[in-house]
Amino acid sequence: VEPPKPLMVKTDLESEVDDGKKKVTIFFGTQTGTAEGFAKALAEEAKVRYDKATFKVVDLDDYAADDEEYEEKMKKEMLALFFLATYGDGEPTDNAARFYKWFTEGEERGNWLENLQYAVFGLGNRQYEHFNKVAKVVDQILADQGGKRLVPLGLGDDDQCIEDDFTAWKELLWPELDQLLHDVDDVSGASTPYTAAIPEYRVVLIKPEEAAHLDKSWSLANGHAVHDIQHPCRANVAVRRELHTPASDRSCIHLEFEIAGTGLMYETGDHVGVYAENCTETVDEAVRLLGYSSDTFFTIHADKEDGTPLSGSSLPPPFPSPCTLRTALARYADLLNSPKKSALVALAAHASDPSEAERLKFLASPTGKDEYSQWIVASQRSLLEIMAEFPSAKPPLGVFFAAIAPRLQPRYYSISSSPRMAPTRIHVTCALVYGPTPTGRIHKGVCSTWMKHSVPLQESQECSWAPTFVRQSNFKLPADSSVPIIMIGPGTGLAPFRGFLQERLALKEAGTQLGRSILFFGCRNRKLDFIYEDELKNFVETGALSELIVAFSREGPTKEYVQHKMAEKASDIWSVISQGGYIYVCGDAKGMARDVHRTLHTIVQEQGSLDSSKTESMVKSLQMEGRYLRDVW
Ligand code: 2AM
Repeated sequence: VEPPKPLMVKTDLESEVDDGKKKVTIFFGTQTGTAEGFAKALAEEAKVRYDKATFKVVDLDDYAADDEEYEEKMKKEMLALFFLATYGDGEPTDNAARFYKWFTEGEERGNWLENLQYAVFGLGNRQYEHFNKVAKVVDQILADQGGKRLVPLGLGDDDQCIEDDFTAWKELLWPELDQLLHDVDDVSGASTPYTAAIPEYRVVLIKPEEAAHLDKSWSLANGHAVHDIQHPCRANVAVRRELHTPASDRSCIHLEFEIAGTGLMYETGDHVGVYAENCTETVDEAVRLLGYSSDTFFTIHADKEDGTPLSGSSLPPPFPSPCTLRTALARYADLLNSPKKSALVALAAHASDPSEAERLKFLASPTGKDEYSQWIVASQRSLLEIMAEFPSAKPPLGVFFAAIAPRLQPRYYSISSSPRMAPTRIHVTCALVYGPTPTGRIHKGVCSTWMKHSVPLQESQECSWAPTFVRQSNFKLPADSSVPIIMIGPGTGLAPFRGFLQERLALKEAGTQLGRSILFFGCRNRKLDFIYEDELKNFVETGALSELIVAFSREGPTKEYVQHKMAEKASDIWSVISQGGYIYVCGDAKGMARDVHRTLHTIVQEQGSLDSSKTESMVKSLQMEGRYLRDVW
């Protein structure tokens, strides 16, 4: 006879203890999947080390439906780890946006996180001005509101080797977790060396004769009510046009996606996400290196035949299948970025030549750190180049897609039209990414190359199409059209301003009174890359734009950039600011936007006769009020 179970009334804190196991929540805010990958890898590793704890990996967006629920659930957390990526202009990832807004903007909550012990690892890039801003802010607020920080904030830097930063941070974290999660007299787990298993999908090859009717590789999500990164919508290319003149040695493409009848909707200033395909040349090379036939047909699964998850269940769901190897490589595999260290380990495991396996393992090891940064990262060696250097490494497809080639990510573009002018089209203005890398390879950007070679509907009924979705932005014109604005956008930074000006023109035609507007545009030479020149002049003639100021960087003996033109117009800029106007900057974050920011500082300081701390706080408050907005990459 079973003894009666003791009655237990759970308090808030006790309810966090599950079957006597301590509960650890691992949150991630991810854009391209790296933060999510780290969160899952840490959970897998921790499960092996601590059998007296449970680890739950949680997408910040899925955690709570609203602010109230965030608060309610967060209050009960006792041990939490955060993996938070920062992108663009110091912004959270899409899946962390709601959490971040709630957490950073909420009312005073006092010491409400007293029961929480936490650690934060940030993912960012030191080249950007707001390096790891999201992680820094969250880490600080957690501490300010009573949380106990277990280890210093990890500052992952994607410009170097972010996997190494992650490894180093984990080494600090383990001793802390050992104390919290091991029984006092059981320290055996702490010294258990952990070697991560190489993840692998289950791949089932299908005979060609059975395959003919099965290719449904892209299940079109047009039936979805909402289109987002997981549910893109097929959009045809309606128009494609070169914007540079033939004399230019570069290329910039104007592309129009047809969205009539798709359910896709957008507002001026939004971004479009585009899933492009690798070009044939890249796919052919990958097929050759893998040693398969390109029409190999297969299905791919993250579970066993009986439906139970494969061991090490941190695998993301696989791409839609059945499909051919050609399709899988074109649509889903990132083949041109440098491989991660974990990919080298997986390649090593399938290299038949022992010396190749050794070298691959060395490159992935702590002693091979410098060699990895030099020979792989600094030389921009692509995954395909590495595979060509180690021809004996022939991974099975399940390993290749799970552990070696990351999922090809969508590319984002600032939409260059306004739905008031182009209600059934999304316009994109895209500079072709094309140029030699240090190894002499010609790097061709995946999406810009795809756009350049796309076949528009105007040329063929068999036109090109891509899965697309719209991402909302806060880069919006002032609600009151009479407010003056300044727009700064050299090169393809012009894109959202073309949308703004289309919108202003439509408003003007509808009889709305417009405030003053100044556009600072920059390009190399008016005969080569003055994109949309006629349209811009037309905006001036029609009064949608009050003043067009162009900096030509390669016409005269010295470089002239938009910020030089801004300095010449300092008093006009100051007067717009003083009248409550808005300032918009779009384009390259690392060079241009940083220089423009400094120039804006100087203008405010000189024109307002302010000292540097007053200048600082004035520019800050412009940002806080949403009157200084940046759309930078
Ligand atoms: P460059 O290529 O001659 O250096 C659009 O790309 C324009 O932006 C080009 O004229 C380019 O000039 C210019 N540009 C490059 N770096 C810049 C920077 N840091 N600030 C402003 N403009 C820049």
